[in-house]
Amino acid sequence: MSKVVSYKDIGLVNSRELFRHAVAGGYAIPAYNFNNLEQLQAIVIACAETRSPVIMQVSKGARNYANETMLRYMAMGAVEMAREIGVDLPIVLHLDHGDSFELCKSCIDSGFSSVMIDGSHLPYDENVALTSKVVEYAHQYDVTVEGELGVLAGIEDEVVAEESTYTQPDEVEDFVQKTGVDSLAISIGTSHGAFKFKLKEGESAPPLRFDILEEIEKRIPGFPIVLHGASSVVPAYVELINQYGGKLDGAVGVSEDQLRRAAKSAVCKINIDSDGRLAVTAKVREFLVKNPGEFDPRKYLGAARSELVELIKHKNQAVLGSAGKA
Ligand code: G3H
Ligand code: 13P
Ligand code: ZN
Repeated sequence: MSKVVSYKDIGLVNSRELFRHAVAGGYAIPAYNFNNLEQLQAIVIACAETRSPVIMQVSKGARNYANETMLRYMAMGAVEMAREIGVDLPIVLHLDHGDSFELCKSCIDSGFSSVMIDGSHLPYDENVALTSKVVEYAHQYDVTVEGELGVLAGIEDEVVAEESTYTQPDEVEDFVQKTGVDSLAISIGTSHGAFKFKLKEGESAPPLRFDILEEIEKRIPGFPIVLHGASSVVPAYVELINQYGGKLDGAVGVSEDQLRRAAKSAVCKINIDSDGRLAVTAKVREFLVKNPGEFDPRKYLGAARSELVELIKHKNQAVLGSAGKA
């Protein structure tokens, strides 16, 4: 990348105003991960139809998979597509789990309007130093920055945490003040992926640690909080996958009730990746088993995309409360 591209020229927005409205209005902005065309189309169609502001997010892995230039043009296409549908949708292009200053800078220089620098696995002072460096660069271009305190159980890109280390409320005020971040991801019992809780027969998932969230809110009132690992691992998709040849034993996620409660609080960004992956996999598996003679990717990926549209509309309307806010 030689030339610096401003997200403003692409028609994107940063997350600042969206979060301000979400915190005041008691809802959360959805942050959907994407890696390919059909996922991105589904996000645009569903968010336009429900008039929901949206954060389209890209992980380091997604950038490697799809190619960074291709992804940037896809995001530009998404903005144009929403306009053609006739909705002036506020769209944020966000780097999910940035793991270095260089990666964040590269995204900012290529048109991202928001980045996450995830120093949550580092010693506190190093997290502060790295996050501050990214904020200093990003704010020169009016790009918003998400930091993280506390480690989620499971796999955060290449960082493996055996158990979730909950965010310590005593650290948040100092972190926010020293780094200048625009939002803060916290750890209150969620984890990434489709296996969020190890449950015995008949057990249900433990509630999130809303007591920790309340303590955090007391320390930084009105500050935008981000919830990662927030897929519900929709049981109907897990059942379809298993019915059509897959094997996902013990997959379980965060209940919609818990997410609704979080969305009404200072949590103003909710990250969803696994549910989209499950919806796509379930529909592709079902389609191919039911239509053994089909080999046109448009047919099975089209079926997956339609399901993804329905899933995202449901999340915006019934879980996050972002529908109608664009
Ligand atoms: O939090 C991680 C996201 O689900 C992205 O996952 O690194 O496999 O693209 P990925
Ligand atoms: P899920 O794995 O629960 O979808 O979480 C996604 C996420 O937090 C992306 O950053
Ligand atoms: Zn995450």
